[in-house]
Amino acid sequence: MIKEDIGFREAGKFEETRFEKIHNVIFESSQEASLMVAREIANLIQRKNELNEPCVLGLATGSSPIKVYEELVRMHKEERLSFANVVTFNLDEYYPMDENDIQSYYHFMHEHLFHHVDIHPENINIPNGQVSAEELQQYCIDYEMKIKSYGGLDFQLLGIGRTGHIGFNEPGSHVNSGTRSITLDHLTRIDAASSFLGIDNVPRKAITMGIGTVRNAKRIVLLGWGISKAGIIKKTIEGEVSSQVPATYLQEHHNTTFVLDTEASSELTRVKTPWLVKSCVWTDELKLKAVAWLSELTKKPFLKLTDKDYNDNGMSSLLTEEGTAYDLNIKMFNKMQQTITGWPGGKPNADDTYRPERSTPEKKRIIIFSPHPDDDVISMGGTFDRLVEQGHEVHVAYQTSGNIAVSNEEALKFAEISRALNPDSKVSQEIINFLKNRTGTEIDSPEVRKLKGLIRRSESFGATRYIGLSDSNVHFLDLPFYETGTVKKNNLSDADVDIMCDIIESIKPHQIYAAGDLADPHGTHKVCLDSLFEALKRLKQKDFMNDCWVWLYRGAWHEWESYQIDMAVPMSPDQVLKKRHAIFYHQSQKDGVMFQGDDSREFWVRVEDRNRLTAEKYHSLGLADYSAIEAFKRYHF
Ligand code: F6R
Repeated sequence: MIKEDIGFREAGKFEETRFEKIHNVIFESSQEASLMVAREIANLIQRKNELNEPCVLGLATGSSPIKVYEELVRMHKEERLSFANVVTFNLDEYYPMDENDIQSYYHFMHEHLFHHVDIHPENINIPNGQVSAEELQQYCIDYEMKIKSYGGLDFQLLGIGRTGHIGFNEPGSHVNSGTRSITLDHLTRIDAASSFLGIDNVPRKAITMGIGTVRNAKRIVLLGWGISKAGIIKKTIEGEVSSQVPATYLQEHHNTTFVLDTEASSELTRVKTPWLVKSCVWTDELKLKAVAWLSELTKKPFLKLTDKDYNDNGMSSLLTEEGTAYDLNIKMFNKMQQTITGWPGGKPNADDTYRPERSTPEKKRIIIFSPHPDDDVISMGGTFDRLVEQGHEVHVAYQTSGNIAVSNEEALKFAEISRALNPDSKVSQEIINFLKNRTGTEIDSPEVRKLKGLIRRSESFGATRYIGLSDSNVHFLDLPFYETGTVKKNNLSDADVDIMCDIIESIKPHQIYAAGDLADPHGTHKVCLDSLFEALKRLKQKDFMNDCWVWLYRGAWHEWESYQIDMAVPMSPDQVLKKRHAIFYHQSQKDGVMFQGDDSREFWVRVEDRNRLTAEKYHSLGLADYSAIEAFKRYHF
């Protein structure tokens, strides 16, 4: 990890910026990074306070700044940080948008910050999503003038959209643009779709501060978390300035820092291929990463890489350390080869020195944690099937009810069946009335949520029975953090971790499988993973934990990079089909998945493509040619 203070440094003046045009700092987690950013803001507020001056902050909404606001609130409550001298200007607001709407940025800011600190309400400025179309232009000019009247922004906090937008300055925005109304990019609307329960509800327009407004700020900090931002972060930091990636305009601002977590920084040249930038300490993982990269670049399998290939591609220091390409190639080939096993629970009576799993105990107790009721079969259906077939005691624990991902139409179908079976049922009728009369994005009634959760339960039983698991080994944890009825979830609490600890203690597993999904740092998968990590921390001292190994699969979106894989479980064409059928039991998630993102393929297609690609990757590195592979990374706690 590269870790520095987030203080300003002029880009280009330190070693690692050979490819970089914006100062950036990488932290291991968004949590740690957010604390640093909050500290910088708090220091500024206090400095300004001592000078008896207002502190003018430009603020962002979205998932990125949430923890910064949480920390500022904590500082207010515990360290008496006062916001009495703070004046805020928010970047943007959807248009049209009622401020009372839970999707409004007005609501967001009050919920996350303003309700909890001592800011004077008259010092809060958020673009008003309700001004009339006729007044809009003048309103924007006035907003801009008001910022100027305070002498401009002292500090601007930003997130970045996958289009490269800052604020809602979408591709095509002019470098000198001011506050104005703008049409949202399709990708931006897709990203907002889950908070609006479907893209059709996402407004098409917004009011946003301009690039010029932002660039006039004296200090800018942009937050980037999670793998889904990695591509745009690289383009912004290393690419040419272009109106097609509006955030690149920040290259021309002299006091900007990008604060990133490891995932968001993972495409930067100095992180992805550090050997091209500086001399490296060659750990085993880095060696494998570099050789896999070289193999991909040269389109040669490991065993055909030559000394020249290494020397021509910035890896001569690796060769010096390892001797010849021949030795290094074989070593790396064996390392990859040893990840492959058809015995994910360990091969009985086999020498396990070079196998990913232990051969004993022959029959293991296993928990598969699945964040939603379907991640188990989507992400590791083939391995799940093998574990059951090979006689292990397998349990599946669905961490959340997954109720919000069931559409109203699907729920109505079941409610109508229920009413037909029992015409006197008041509940069925209430549910039908609720579903038929709902107008917008209001929260589901508790009964509707219950029905939606039950639909997902019965689908899960369909899939687990098909794989051959007895119902008593299927557990529904319904972790409380998820049960808000909205896309926004609560923070992880002791109640969640207690439930996780209870099930682990009652089964005393030799293996735990869990979703190691890092794609969305605030998403359900990440919270589910955190609940496991917290439980492992608490249970670490128990004897049975010495025999417990944890394997992480990745969710539906990404796969581990080849150098990260510790266990690769191949699947035959028949097993691929069986996995597909298991996924089909989750009918409510078929045909128009609600939280699809920008990939319109259905889950089973996505996952088949991904498992096939992993197999092809292994083959291209010179290993055996399988139909499909599921991949796991071991987590050492
Ligand atoms: C929010 C804003 C946007 C977001 C960006 C990233 O006020 O102006 O530019 O910062 O869309 O959103 P998240 O943080 O949700 O990934």
